[in-house]
Amino acid sequence: MEATNMYLYGASGHAKVIYDIIDAMGGKILGFIDDDKNIIEFKGEKVIHLHTNQAPLIISIGNNSIRKKIAESLSVEFGTAIHPSAIISNFSTIGCGTVIMQGCIIQTDVIIGKHCIINTGASIDHECHIDDYVHVSPHATLCGNVHVGEGTWIGAGSTIIQGVKIGKWCIIGAGSVVTKDIPDGYLAVGNRCKLIKQINQIL
Ligand SMILES: CC(C)(COP(=O)(O)OP(=O)(O)OC[C@H]1O[C@@H](n2cnc3c(N)ncnc32)[C@H](O)[C@@H]1OP(=O)(O)O)[C@@H](O)C(=O)NCCC(=O)NCCS
Repeated sequence: MEATNMYLYGASGHAKVIYDIIDAMGGKILGFIDDDKNIIEFKGEKVIHLHTNQAPLIISIGNNSIRKKIAESLSVEFGTAIHPSAIISNFSTIGCGTVIMQGCIIQTDVIIGKHCIINTGASIDHECHIDDYVHVSPHATLCGNVHVGEGTWIGAGSTIIQGVKIGKWCIIGAGSVVTKDIPDGYLAVGNRCKLIKQINQIL
């Protein structure tokens, strides 16, 4: 595992987890950046309130839409954080800015885009395709050949059966079992997962 020193943009609970991952990788946090001037100190470090192209950088903000907005406003080198306990196939690819948390399993021929969060213990099986800015919450299970569109949030403990295509900017409620494709921009919940309403998550 390559040790990398990193700036984090966003001083939040999510940043605390990424801090732990960078530490486990043998790296150091070079600084925390946050737009909120009321956050003066974080993890014992002074928080920087102006982004002046500090890099490499991870946007440590859980909201997919905010992560996208910030990523598109910056032209810096983005890093990745992959906890050493994650099991990742050599035949899978992971985009810049993405974080893979403790205990994840990423099987063969998986493509994970940029600025994604693959949260604690999530399991992503063979040939899944995860687009940019997706969050797969803790202990979600994606069976083989699942496609998840940009910006979608898969709730904790959800199961997505093989071959299902979930659209862009959807929310799948915690504990859902998704057996059919979900169109772009829907909130869907339950076992079996049903469409609840159209949503617009893009800021
Ligand atoms: C889906 C979710 C985002 C709520 O969205 P919301 O727009 O506020 O929707 P509401 O709370 O108004 O719920 C709409 C309906 O879906 C139901 N519902 C909400 N979440 C549900 C879930 N996970 N499973 C089953 N039903 C659910 C509600 O009971 C409600 O039903 P009703 O109209 O019959 O009362 C939230 O419940 C959820 O599951 N979040 C994921 C949490 C998570 O995974 N966190 C991990 C962080 S790392």
